[in-house]
Amino acid sequence: MKQIVAIYPGSFDPVTNGHLDLIHRGCKLFDRLVVAIARNPDKEDSLFSLEERMEMLMAMTADLENVTVDAFEGLLMTYCVQKNANAVLRGIRAVSDYEFELQMALMNRKIEPRVETVFMMPAEKYSYLSSRIVREIALFGGPLSGLVPELVEEHLRRRVEQKRTATNGIPIK
Ligand code: PNS
Repeated sequence: MKQIVAIYPGSFDPVTNGHLDLIHRGCKLFDRLVVAIARNPDKEDSLFSLEERMEMLMAMTADLENVTVDAFEGLLMTYCVQKNANAVLRGIRAVSDYEFELQMALMNRKIEPRVETVFMMPAEKYSYLSSRIVREIALFGGPLSGLVPELVEEHLRRRVEQKRTATNGIPIK
């Protein structure tokens, strides 16, 4: 029988409980799920390095047998072909996500018609959650519980402290 290998691509800067919710849903549906962190040259101001993001994702998915974590550079479709993947998993939280996701899915289909994009919705309680908002809350010292796993929260607090020390207490962006 044909094995369905899906790629779940993203920036994961950092991984949130919303991402993990989607990973748990996805790994029940696909034979194999590869969480693929994009090395995105457009987002050079990322809070965590690729290695740090990978470490956090690996720790949070270690108990999921059919899930692996990887990184990729360049076009997602090139990476899918390299990995022999037949699907891409993306999360849709609200209608506002739809336009960008539709554009990406259709462009990816044009580049590589053999790969299907599958959309899944995270639990409603995560529908307002994003890595960007998590970074902002962390930078201003707000509450993170329920938004990210404890390990990620520790990493966030440490990174904010490091940044504050590096700027001699001057507020950071
Ligand atoms: O977590 P994000 O930032 O929403 O993820 C976006 C990502 C990494 C999935 C997207 O930017 C991507 O696929 N980048 C790889 C480059 C690529 O293939 N671009 C063409 C997409 S149509």
